[in-house]
Amino acid sequence: MSLFADRNKIIGTENAFKIGPHIAKVEASGTAVVKLNLGEPDFSAPEWVKTEVIRNIQLDNSHYCDPKGVLPLREAIAGQINATRKLDVNAEQVCVFPGGKPSIGFAQQIYCNPGDEIIYPSPGFPIYESFIRYIGAVPVTMHLEEEQNFTISAGQLEELISPRTKLIILNFPSNPTGGVTTKDQLEGLARVILDKCDPHTRVYSDEIYENIIFDGRTHHSIASVPGMEKMTIISSGFSKSFAWTGGRIGYAVLPTAEEANAFKNMNINYFSCIPPYNQAGATEALKNPASGPWMAEMAQTFEKRRDVIVNMLNDVQGIRCQTPGGAFYLFPNIAGLCERLGVFDAMGTLSKDKKIYTSPSTLFQMFALYSHQVAVMDRRSFGAIGTENKHFLRLSIAADIESLKDGVRRLAAAGDDRVGFQRFVQKGENLF
Ligand SMILES: Cc1ncc(COP(=O)(O)O)c(C=O)c1O
Repeated sequence: MSLFADRNKIIGTENAFKIGPHIAKVEASGTAVVKLNLGEPDFSAPEWVKTEVIRNIQLDNSHYCDPKGVLPLREAIAGQINATRKLDVNAEQVCVFPGGKPSIGFAQQIYCNPGDEIIYPSPGFPIYESFIRYIGAVPVTMHLEEEQNFTISAGQLEELISPRTKLIILNFPSNPTGGVTTKDQLEGLARVILDKCDPHTRVYSDEIYENIIFDGRTHHSIASVPGMEKMTIISSGFSKSFAWTGGRIGYAVLPTAEEANAFKNMNINYFSCIPPYNQAGATEALKNPASGPWMAEMAQTFEKRRDVIVNMLNDVQGIRCQTPGGAFYLFPNIAGLCERLGVFDAMGTLSKDKKIYTSPSTLFQMFALYSHQVAVMDRRSFGAIGTENKHFLRLSIAADIESLKDGVRRLAAAGDDRVGFQRFVQKGENLF
């Protein structure tokens, strides 16, 4: 009898949480690491949110509450969605979760039978791919290409749709690429979905970066395209928009109250409910008129950093970086750098059992961390299926500008360090 169930072997993970011990190991040896691996804004949550949380704890608002989310928060979310997406949803269609993450796995469990197909973006948030095989569904990878600034055309999506397509996951602005679709592109995708998919197919539109958007654009949701409101789950939350990742408040707006209740039942099974004092803070975040300008200022800060750091990256020999339209990530192509440094040759020398756990961008990531003290994420951390020939890194720009510049200089130095790289690979430790 084995200790772990078979399905435990096929769930993935989020490597952003796994790289922490490696960073700690490097720092324990006495050298500081420039951390460009973090998926959270380097801001503090607004004062009015914190004050409301504290006030509610003092009011003893710290008991079990509605597993679907407290009504004032669900009403505020419905109001916000109606105002920004031009929809007509009500609080019964809203379900609140501990963060934006749980509804990803819940959606897969609630809508998909074994054998159903899930179309998901790659590169994409790792939890999309992680769950698919775990629940017995079939992954259909929607590869987002650099040449299209990591967006997808209606024609490309159409090729992936089949009679078994049950769930289509979209995420704009995107983690890890910062890719943003235009309203026209979303209308094209919607046309294909409305044309080709069963009415029971669902689109899971992860819009958690909706308020971090650049170049004077506004956020568009596929749910706003007529007809799509009946098929779309809008997911968002407070982790990114309000720099409040530890508050653990996210939500989904479902096409029907019946579907929202299915998600509520998952909450009951897993968490019972979400801390009510934090939900009070989230309600305040949506209602306080100071929140809009606060978010706009944070987004402007990210935009300024983006402009400086994209240029710096493009000046490094062997790196090519697109300009993202939102979120707080850069996703440079490092194929040229890997070639120059001998990473592809080094891959060829690894044993089979090591090769399956690593990739050229992973080797470079680990070398950059252990030998040049800069932490970034590799391509495989954002979906592994079908990515053998794709060589990218994710840099988070949620760090001050001096650290960001220092980080890019360290990556450039790592790219020039052929001797150090050979030594690192020969040592054979920390290769993934
Ligand atoms: C695209 C995307 N969706 C969902 C989440 C999960 O957010 P939360 O921390 O609120 O669970 C993240 C976090 O990085 C994300 O990047």
